[in-house]
Amino acid sequence: MKTLCLILLLVSLKAFAEPYPQADAAAGKTLVEKNCISCHASSFGGDGSVIYTRDFHKVTSAKALVAQVRSCNTMLGLKWFEDEELNAAKYLNTTYYQFAE
Ligand code: HEC
Repeated sequence: MKTLCLILLLVSLKAFAEPYPQADAAAGKTLVEKNCISCHASSFGGDGSVIYTRDFHKVTSAKALVAQVRSCNTMLGLKWFEDEELNAAKYLNTTYYQFAE
């Protein structure tokens, strides 16, 4: 019985595997809307989200997504803390990219 429970636990953990388990997507949404969208929208039109969904989008993994958020943060001098970068990455991943890991 114990073994069965363990197996079920592992299976369910796997099913819920996601790259930024501690991050807060709602907080990330606020950050991205405030700091990031207007520039993407003026370069790419609409609400700017095309940048994430275009055929040849640059970001191709959860790790690369954090790296991209981090370099935008640095480039723009936003001074986000690491948890804020992860929140933004989680929001973008949940809404657009959907990388599993
Ligand atoms: C001053 C304009 C500007 C601002 C502000 C800006 N970006 Fe960008 N961003 C761009 C441009 C231009 C590209 C496309 C770069 C390319 O195609 O090489 C881009 C690309 C990206 C991508 C990669 C999209 C892909 O191809 O998968 C992500 C993710 C991203 N930005 C996130 C952010 C985040 C998060 C912020 C806010 C912290 C932000 N950007 C703020 C101009 C901006």
